[in-house]
Order: sequence, then C-alpha cells, then structure tokens
Amino acid sequence: MEKARREMTERLKAVDMIIELRDCRIPEASTNPLLNMMAQGKPRLIVLAKTDMADPVQSEKWVRHLKKENQSCLAVDLMRDNGAGKKIIREALLLMKPKRDKQKARGINPRAVRAMACGIPNVGKSTMINRIVGKNTVKAADKPGVTRSLTWIHADPQLDLLDTPGVLWPKFDDEMTGSLLAALGSINDDILDRKMIAMDAIHVIQDLYPGMLEEIYESGEVNPNGMLKAIAAKRNLVRENNEPDTKRAAEMFLNELRKGRLGRLSLEHVHEEDTEDHSE
Ligand code: G4P
Repeated sequence: MEKARREMTERLKAVDMIIELRDCRIPEASTNPLLNMMAQGKPRLIVLAKTDMADPVQSEKWVRHLKKENQSCLAVDLMRDNGAGKKIIREALLLMKPKRDKQKARGINPRAVRAMACGIPNVGKSTMINRIVGKNTVKAADKPGVTRSLTWIHADPQLDLLDTPGVLWPKFDDEMTGSLLAALGSINDDILDRKMIAMDAIHVIQDLYPGMLEEIYESGEVNPNGMLKAIAAKRNLVRENNEPDTKRAAEMFLNELRKGRLGRLSLEHVHEEDTEDHSE
C-alpha cells in the first residue's frame, strides 16, 4: 500500500490530468479508492469501458451523474468503436481547455497535455491505449521536464499519456464491492469462493432486473442457491451422486456474465435521487 501510494504521488506530480478507466457495468465498484484519496483537484476524465455489455439506460445516467466541475465522463465500446481513441483524446483536451486558454491569454504557448491513464485490472486500459495510439506508438520520454523513469506515450500532438502498469490494485472497502469486482473479473477469483461470488451476482441481478434470470434459465427460483441448482439442471451439470453440481454452475454463470452473454446489464444503478444533470 505504501509503495502504491509513493508511486501514485510521483506520477501525479508529473501530470496535468487523469484518465481513469472504469467498467461501465460497475462504475462505482471499479474506481480506485487510492486515486480518489490522492488525486483530488486534478481534472479527471472517467472512461466507462465495455458499454456494449452494459444497460444503455444506466450508462447514460452514469455519464450524466459522473460529470461535474473539473470532471468529465465518456462511455465507450473499446472493442468495436474505431473512433473511441479519438473521442477520448477530444474529451481530455476539452477538459483542459479552460487552463490552456488562460495560458494562451497570457501569451504562453501551452505544451502538450500530460495525462495519466489508470484503472484497476481488466477494465480495458491496455485496449484503450491501443485504441488511442493505434500502430504509431512513440515514446515521448525525452521531453524536457518529463520524468524519464516513467513510460510516456505520444498519443496526439497535444496529448502525452503516462501509463501506470500494475500499480493500481483495487482495495475495496466493503464485501459487495469485492464481490462485484470478482464477478466481472477484476480480482483474481482463484482465491475466492466462486459460488459465493455467483450467488451475490445472482442476488444483485434479481434485485435490479426482476425476472431476467428466471427467463434465461427457465426457473421460478428466487433464492440464489436455488437458482444455481436451476442453472446446473438446465446445463446438465450433475455430480457423481446425481446432485446438481452448483460449483460448476457458478463457474459457468460467471463466465456467461463476464462475456455479456446474459444480455446488456449493469450491476450498479445510479440512485434515483442522484440522477439530476450535473453537466453544464
Ligand atoms: P486492462 O489493461 O485494464 O487489464 O484490460 P484489457 O485492456 O486487457 O481488457 C480486459 C478484457 O476486456 C479484454 O478481454 C478486452 O478485450 C476486453 N475489453 C476491453 N474493452 C472492452 C470493451 O469496451 N468491450 C468489450 N466487450 N470488451 C472489452 P480478454 O478476454 O481478457 O482478452 P482478449 O481475449 O480480448 O484478448
């Protein structure tokens, strides 16, 4: 934790703004608390990736909800939207425009914006960097004043991007956050009880999308454990003693959820009282 904090401080000093990747299906659980603690005041662009797998109504609400002063938000499909990289660059520069305009007004020619790209594992950060940089990866390490030990990517004539590989591991404050992160694959679930994770996810989906799982798995079960049994029955997963194999059912369910095969859904919804428009 101390090392992560030190690295974060060093990186924050080197940048003008932050581009934070989050999973569009869990925009709150997939933020990094360390970043929230340490990066107050830096302009931030939140990129909600995997919008193709999220509930479109919720994505729109989240984008509106997360936009505020000094903070912008964009929901993108990094896999299929070829223009995603350009959209992200445009939005980042827009966020920095007031500061750059002030510099211009004082007769200063603003240098390229320096942005730190960060995000917890598996949210799509590498995919985003590839989208932004395309095949023209150029390291911009020799610019005066730029910390040389860090990896800079020349994303655009007006934007240099600092990658933050492997420093921002999630630290979650409550069990449900951990469970949601595990359900969507941001925490290595080898060390976790997959049945518990699957049951938590089933519970959340049943709450937010009543009837959805019942229809997919053709079962009237409302109890998460009962639903796992129904999934095992539907997928013919039985143990040697002829009991439904709920462990394998949990694995199969989580796999289908992660790949978006259950349909477009968001496991965190904006609280209704928070939906007012924060944008100008
Ligand atoms: P990371 O650097 O933040 O750890 O994430 P990375 O870019 O490696 O993306 C993690 C997984 O999410 C990858 O799938 C990637 O293809 C997928 N992904 C990223 N952005 C999007 C998106 O907007 N929509 C969808 N549907 N998927 C996205 P993978 O199965 O782990 O790898 P691969 O089989 O694609 O190589």
